[in-house]
Amino acid sequence: MKFDTPATTNPIDKGRVVGVAHDRIDGPAKVTGSAPYAYERHDAAPNAAYGWIVGSAIAKGTIAALDLRAAEAAPGVLGIVTHANAGKLGKGNYNTAPLLGGPAIMHYDQALALVIADTLENARAAAKLVRIDYAPQDGKFDLAAEQGNAVKPPDGGFGGAADSAVGDFDGAFAKAAVRIDQRYTTPDHSHAMLEPHATTAAWNGDKLTLWTANQMIAWSVGEVAKTLGIPKANIRLVAPYIGGGFGAKLWLRADALLAALGARQIGRPVKVAIARNQIPNNTTHRPATIQRIRIGADKNGVIDAIGHEVWSGDLPGGGTETAAMQTRLLYGGAHRMTAHRLATLDLPEGNAMRAPGEAVGLLALEVAMDELAEACGVDPVELRIRNDVQYDPEAGTQRPYSSRKLVECLRAGADRFGWAKRNPKPGKVRDGRWLVGMGVASAFRNNLVGKSGARIGVDGAGKVIVETDMTDIGTGSYTIIGQTAAEMLGVSLDDVIVRLGDSRFPASAGSGGQWGANSSTAGVYAAAMALRAKLAEKAGYPIDQAQFDDGLVKLGNQSQTLAALAGREGLWAEDSIEFGDLDKRYVQATFGAHFCEVGVDIDTAEVRIRRMGGAFAAGRILNPKSARSQVIGAMTMGAGSALMEALEVDTRFGLFINHDMAEYAVPVHADIPEQDVLFIDELDDKSSPMKAKGVGELGICGAGAAVANAIYNATGLRLRDYPLTIDKLL
Ligand code: MOS
Repeated sequence: MKFDTPATTNPIDKGRVVGVAHDRIDGPAKVTGSAPYAYERHDAAPNAAYGWIVGSAIAKGTIAALDLRAAEAAPGVLGIVTHANAGKLGKGNYNTAPLLGGPAIMHYDQALALVIADTLENARAAAKLVRIDYAPQDGKFDLAAEQGNAVKPPDGGFGGAADSAVGDFDGAFAKAAVRIDQRYTTPDHSHAMLEPHATTAAWNGDKLTLWTANQMIAWSVGEVAKTLGIPKANIRLVAPYIGGGFGAKLWLRADALLAALGARQIGRPVKVAIARNQIPNNTTHRPATIQRIRIGADKNGVIDAIGHEVWSGDLPGGGTETAAMQTRLLYGGAHRMTAHRLATLDLPEGNAMRAPGEAVGLLALEVAMDELAEACGVDPVELRIRNDVQYDPEAGTQRPYSSRKLVECLRAGADRFGWAKRNPKPGKVRDGRWLVGMGVASAFRNNLVGKSGARIGVDGAGKVIVETDMTDIGTGSYTIIGQTAAEMLGVSLDDVIVRLGDSRFPASAGSGGQWGANSSTAGVYAAAMALRAKLAEKAGYPIDQAQFDDGLVKLGNQSQTLAALAGREGLWAEDSIEFGDLDKRYVQATFGAHFCEVGVDIDTAEVRIRRMGGAFAAGRILNPKSARSQVIGAMTMGAGSALMEALEVDTRFGLFINHDMAEYAVPVHADIPEQDVLFIDELDDKSSPMKAKGVGELGICGAGAAVANAIYNATGLRLRDYPLTIDKLL
């Protein structure tokens, strides 16, 4: 089904199941421990051996000598994979550094060997006996030191971002009545998802099956094929349950490649998990940024010139953190510029993490807006409303937004949060030993769409079955896909069986960039339309008059059951949604407003979040319960980026030194006592037949800036280097 004209009234609009809050249908399997994750596929591969990754102890150089004798002789060892015996490996499209290093080494903890043994303990013990002599080389590890050497990145692809320029930025900025010109920094971040990267691999002849924690099944089949040099048809990826992704699992990582190589070497299934303390350096991270923002406005805070420059680093061949992208779209202003510059660093690979670009871009932009509000003496909510724009400010009125309710979010969110009680003068509100302040920030995240397929059927018992390779990374995909199928075929959610995360199912858009919910349910919509036509035809009813209700296909007062029409063999249909150019003719994005109240201890400078609240407009909310969970989780991550999260770079040796959950701090429940989420009513007829948009990443975008602005309001201290830790407040 091609989606290239705005959606009209359709079966989803009935809103009997879609748009209604539902518990997760996969919840019971998860909380009872019966949902199998990649490392626990004892059912599928009962005799799997265990692999342990040996990572490089240097950041850059070569292997001078590799001595495996002691490890090979250790108890239980079944094999060792290294570059010397792995055969020729290709490189996928997305990995910057090879997933198996040697003799060249590109970053610290790059995998150099996989030791395989009969037990995890034996594999781990033998891994310590692998002897590697290194020939180290000097590397570059310090973004600030390399800022001057940063260059314009290649256009397009991941992390590619063209410069933008409209009007005369320099001239307009120089003439502006009020000018903000500030530098902000954000550190390297680690995904820190709950389930580590993990894979169980098994070969059957030349056919490979990977049970693996992966967000993007179809992409990753392609990556495995390229890397191993085998046909895609010989590869099966299975990922029904995934314990968080956050971008770390968008494609192939060392666990999957090494498990496949290990299983081939020993002729037996092998499982590999990347140990928690290997994740920060072996895998990917969000690169640190240095950002300069300049805003020129009139005395009323109306922006005339806005500029955002971003510097970040990555390995040779890598990409930028696209943190200026939202600045091209969010606020008006006739004179504009953005630029991203890329420094070559020899730290581990930088890549997509939790709303790449906007998440850290808004940490800077939305503080700059707070600074502008203060400089103009305009309320920060009102300032944002004054600078709202209903079209792409780079392209002009001929490219409107498909829907944009930023102003509604700001107004409704402010009301609900009690913004009117805020004292605009910093440092004036005291509650016992706490200085109390409130902050606001806009939320913005692109709405991307992607081709997505599904197969849907009715069996002889009248159960509806949906199959798609879409993944559920903890986000609620199972439930919204089930709701969509139930709505389309007029059955209850209890009568739907959803099967996800298997490359044998039709390829979906996958889970990434908050495109998954809207795209994958639209694919189910397309397949369901095809099945409705088949059912109506079989019933002998004209499709434009048939009704699907209560497990029946109806025409006037006649009806037939789905079960009878499906018969013993069942009735199936498959289709996909393909998107035309509506996302080019209209800007598609999601919006929100974050509010935060903090207390800062007058003596110790300890910051406590007292409450967070937000209002969000993201098209039709498919399941208000799981959407709320997505948003509060994302707001929590935003709070983490404001106050806690940072990988600490050892610039001498080129590694992240805090590499476990004890030293890489993230917020927990006790850190945020109250979170409130309001969804603004919105249907976006240009986004898909679902009229939905993404919501998974919106909640992180801007949340941290609201925290930073609240700290300023509480204390009068403007901090611009994240995370905003106690040492910076004292
Ligand atoms: Mo997301 S960082 O695109 O998984």
